[in-house]
Amino acid sequence: MRFSFISLTALYGVVAAVPTKLPKRSFYPEMLNLTCVISPEVPRNDYVVNPPARSDVTENQDGVTMILDIGVLDVTTCQPLPNVMVEMWGPNAQGNFGPTFLRGSTTTESNGIAEFQTIFPGYTSEGANHIGILIRSTSSESSGVVHVGQLFFTDPLNEIIGKYALAGYDRNEHTRILNDDDPTFVAANSNGYSSIVHINYLHDDWPQGIVGYITVGVDPTKN
Ligand SMILES: *[C@@H]1O[C@H](CO)[C@@H](O)[C@H](O)[C@H]1NC(C)=O
Repeated sequence: MRFSFISLTALYGVVAAVPTKLPKRSFYPEMLNLTCVISPEVPRNDYVVNPPARSDVTENQDGVTMILDIGVLDVTTCQPLPNVMVEMWGPNAQGNFGPTFLRGSTTTESNGIAEFQTIFPGYTSEGANHIGILIRSTSSESSGVVHVGQLFFTDPLNEIIGKYALAGYDRNEHTRILNDDDPTFVAANSNGYSSIVHINYLHDDWPQGIVGYITVGVDPTKN
């Protein structure tokens, strides 16, 4: 008798494996990286004040599903920072920002992690594929801003997802900018800090969804 290998993809199929609305939860039970370095500040491009309070920012945007876990580390104590507001905004698969889509705010859980459900961002007219983030000193949207940053991905991942026609990434009409040619990428990766999101797959491969994780080091006493 012969056994044949059946992959998870064959069993469940791509369609069934792509969740559109996932229940809110923290993908990681604890922060992955406690390297206690402050994250560099970069310009706050394409920002809209006080985005909707929600962790699922996808709205109607097509793209590769991405669970984005942002761990906030207090560099004055080198401990996770719970209950502070994290705002995020990202371009869609075609590299364009919208008035409300792919924008939202949520607070860090007791483990210091804020989790968003979004899509993998396209490259824009001004930069490499990225997501903007802003961190406040408390859970209030009127509290002071302690960090403005951008999160990036590796060029090879940007390249391969950029060819993904099923989710519309191939309809991006901007001229692609590689990480090292984006001055914000260079500024965001300085002083021993890496702003490249660590990637895992939700299922067998990236088209079925990605989990991104990054630790952001902030000084909550600074405004
Ligand atoms: C941990 O964070 C530091 C500072 O940002 C970074 O240089 C390093 O690549 C990170 N390592 C991992 C495994 O996430």
